[in-house]
Amino acid sequence: MTCGGAPAQGSWSVYVHFPWCLKRCAYCDFATSVAEQIPRAQYTRAVLTELALRTAPLHAAPIATVFFGGGTPSLWGPAHVASVLEWLQRWAGFRDDAEITLEANPGAAEAGELRDYAAAGINRVSLGVQSLHARHLRWLDRVHDVDAAYAAVDSMVALLGSGALRSASADVIFGIPGQTLPDLRADVTALLDRGLPHLSAYALTVEDHTPLHTRIARGQVKAPSETATVRHLMALPPLVRSHGLRRYEVSNFAKLGHQSRHNQAYWSGDHYLAVGVGAHGFVPTPGQVGVRYANLRHSGQYLARLAAGALATDFEEIIDGAMHTTERIMTGLRTTAGVDLAALERVAGAGSADCLVARAKASGLLGRDVEVADGRLRLRDGAWPRLDGVVRALA
Ligand SMILES: C[S@@+](CC[C@H](N)C(=O)[O-])C[C@H]1O[C@@H](n2cnc3c(N)ncnc32)[C@H](O)[C@@H]1O
Ligand code: SF4
Repeated sequence: MTCGGAPAQGSWSVYVHFPWCLKRCAYCDFATSVAEQIPRAQYTRAVLTELALRTAPLHAAPIATVFFGGGTPSLWGPAHVASVLEWLQRWAGFRDDAEITLEANPGAAEAGELRDYAAAGINRVSLGVQSLHARHLRWLDRVHDVDAAYAAVDSMVALLGSGALRSASADVIFGIPGQTLPDLRADVTALLDRGLPHLSAYALTVEDHTPLHTRIARGQVKAPSETATVRHLMALPPLVRSHGLRRYEVSNFAKLGHQSRHNQAYWSGDHYLAVGVGAHGFVPTPGQVGVRYANLRHSGQYLARLAAGALATDFEEIIDGAMHTTERIMTGLRTTAGVDLAALERVAGAGSADCLVARAKASGLLGRDVEVADGRLRLRDGAWPRLDGVVRALA
């Protein structure tokens, strides 16, 4: 059967957002809030209603990846996560090798609970450790302490060892004012010594309208130092390599076979379905590459709309061929694989690859920050600190 709503890649990736946390971290700009009582059951009903509405015009191709992100989805409860997975199973079913990730926070998923999430169908956990130093956790306003971080890592690693999980990852933040390179090195080493096959390491970003932004503007705390951030960024690849991990995207490192396939779907420009408060999706639409949509970020408004049987779309944007090409270049450059020039020609037409390479040459980037090898244009090793400038010049 051919269908206007079929994903170009033949299978679906699904993002499910859970918009509540125990405490708001000072630096966070994600769609999340703190509630005295999280309306878990009401939210599950809303998400299932949204899935029914969003999938109605779509082709039910098997699901390759699901990502429960947040907020803190480990606060939702295994039974609710299982309801979403059961709904997806009935709609399209899962590929045998489907990757099903839950973002979990230390202290917001007890040891037993992670096991219950695995029993509910989760086969990959991404744990928000951020730091294993008490003063940095306090600076970030994290709700958990160092002991809770270690306890959560150990229970996740035990589940991986027992085969209950197929993969596991931890998030760390670097470039925190006061954080030294030995601090970061100690965190990464402690995590990877436990056998973690995947690490996400994010440079601390000061987002507008966050408490961190206000504290810096008032001179209450220091801003992240660019020099220290670059030093941390450059120290990561040799550090993780000694544990068998390789960078595959600017912020992501993995052992062979443990790269996150969900994120790779975003970076390759694939269609994906997204539901929940503030979620962004990209689905096929007749005559264009696709349509990007974003849901309302306010959980009360989202719940009210869905309770009335309507979508809670905040905005939609048609993605045409030119825009899609720009996005593929932007996301491709963030990966170590780079931009696949033959694929670019297929999407953007004959001559587009030559045009990109000519732009790299004319801007003086070719040979300095980017290179062409094996049919791909990619960032050179030492150029990661200049990624944003390269993207601006080429995309
Ligand atoms: C939005 S959080 C959701 C997961 C979970 N609630 C947590 O905080 O661990 C996903 C990841 O984004 C990263 N993150 C969020 N805001 C950031 C910022 N301003 N700078 C750097 N990393 C950030 C954190 O490392 C976090 O693990
Ligand atoms: S726990 Fe995660 S999602 Fe929640 S406020 Fe902190 S960084 Fe944001």
